[in-house]
Amino acid sequence: MAKFLVNGFGGKRCLSGTLPVRGAKNSVLKAQAASILFKKELRLNNAPLIEDVFRMNNLLEDLGVKIDRIAKRSFKFIPPREFKTALDYEISKSFRSSIVLTGPILAREGVVSFPHPGGCVIGQRPIDVFLDAFKKMGAVVKRGKRVYVIEAKKMKPAEIFLKTPSVTATETLMMTAVLVKGKTVLYNCACEPEIEALAGFLNKAGADIRGAGTHTVSVHGGELLSSGVFDTPPDRIEAGSFAIISALCGKDLKITQCEPRQIRAVLESLRATGVAVEEGRNYILLNARAAFRPITLKTREYPGFPTDLQAPFSIILTQAKGRSLIFETVFEGRLNYLSDIQRMGAEIILCDPHRATIDGPTLLRGREMESPDLRAGLAFLTAGMVAKGDSVIHNVYNIDRGYENIEERLNAVGADIKRVN
Ligand code: EPZ
Repeated sequence: MAKFLVNGFGGKRCLSGTLPVRGAKNSVLKAQAASILFKKELRLNNAPLIEDVFRMNNLLEDLGVKIDRIAKRSFKFIPPREFKTALDYEISKSFRSSIVLTGPILAREGVVSFPHPGGCVIGQRPIDVFLDAFKKMGAVVKRGKRVYVIEAKKMKPAEIFLKTPSVTATETLMMTAVLVKGKTVLYNCACEPEIEALAGFLNKAGADIRGAGTHTVSVHGGELLSSGVFDTPPDRIEAGSFAIISALCGKDLKITQCEPRQIRAVLESLRATGVAVEEGRNYILLNARAAFRPITLKTREYPGFPTDLQAPFSIILTQAKGRSLIFETVFEGRLNYLSDIQRMGAEIILCDPHRATIDGPTLLRGREMESPDLRAGLAFLTAGMVAKGDSVIHNVYNIDRGYENIEERLNAVGADIKRVN
């Protein structure tokens, strides 16, 4: 398993230059899955070259989709006339996004079987919202020892209230409804920009989806789509990750090819700590500073502070002068990484699975860590660059799942990270 050797700056600001943002992981994966809704080809551009994209391609090829790489970041998907309906067990288990294939396969073929999806260990991550909705649309759900088997001779449209505004449930049910004859209405939907991007792309290909990006989405469905092109939008979580790194280690580091307006909550939180943030239409420029003010960081569904940036942002809070509070409202297991940051020298009290206090500023010292999930892994990389002395981060596959060549890109602006296989 590969690991990163990170040389710590000990608080000095050494990153400068231009850092372009890649295509959005949590957007491209759903567009790949959307190939199930098409009769003919789907073209996808600006894909980030990350592990989850290749896993999703493996899964789709196993189901019968023919995939050609037509350029470095472009793929062409040719769906089969008939899909295989059992998702590959190992691949599906390796990432959460496999769940978005289930509804479209069920609607297209009348049956689907799959294991409970895997992915980041940040909480229970149940799938009851999906299963309840499939039942409302006429499906019968059976849970075996290893897999779920869901059958629906003919799915029917329904009015569905999501018990929680789940991002992938909103996307999965929206795509499922495209193939179900009649009008389906989804209430209490997630409003993330990736959902709007997905609906816009499907509508351009002939779907009739209204309200995406708001809490109520209606879909008039019933036909396969003919063909379509998806241009992956920039990754707002990657842009936010780089802005946080820049606030700690940057000196005139410009983050480009991004959409600052999609991470307003993050930029406002940076400003609240005292960081001067300049934003343009598609760039962010931060003037890092030596001392930060403490804040209360509360994660919320979009447009609130994104849960995916809670871990990276906590490294700033270890350098803030005073007591900060982290309140992780979305996942019950997303503060576990803090014990590693504590062992680097941070003063942290874990109050309960959702809340922690951080007293700063404290000197962080480099140490050996194991990346437990994608965003905690990025937080460890950030802490390693801030720390005095070197750090070793194991299990970097978790970071490669969502960040393309992260060490090469950070080294190009002044970091000192070595990948050791
Ligand atoms: C998506 O995960 C993202 N992943 C996550 O990003 C992100 O953290 C999350 O949305 C929240 O923004 C992808 O898009 C691939 P949820 P998702 O369903 O859809 C509960 C990253 O690092 N819930 O919105 O799985 C759930 O337990 C990843 O890029 C149910 O109770 O998240 C959680 O508490 C990590 N039942 C809450 O909803 C369900 O059936 C929100 O989860 C589904 C979810």
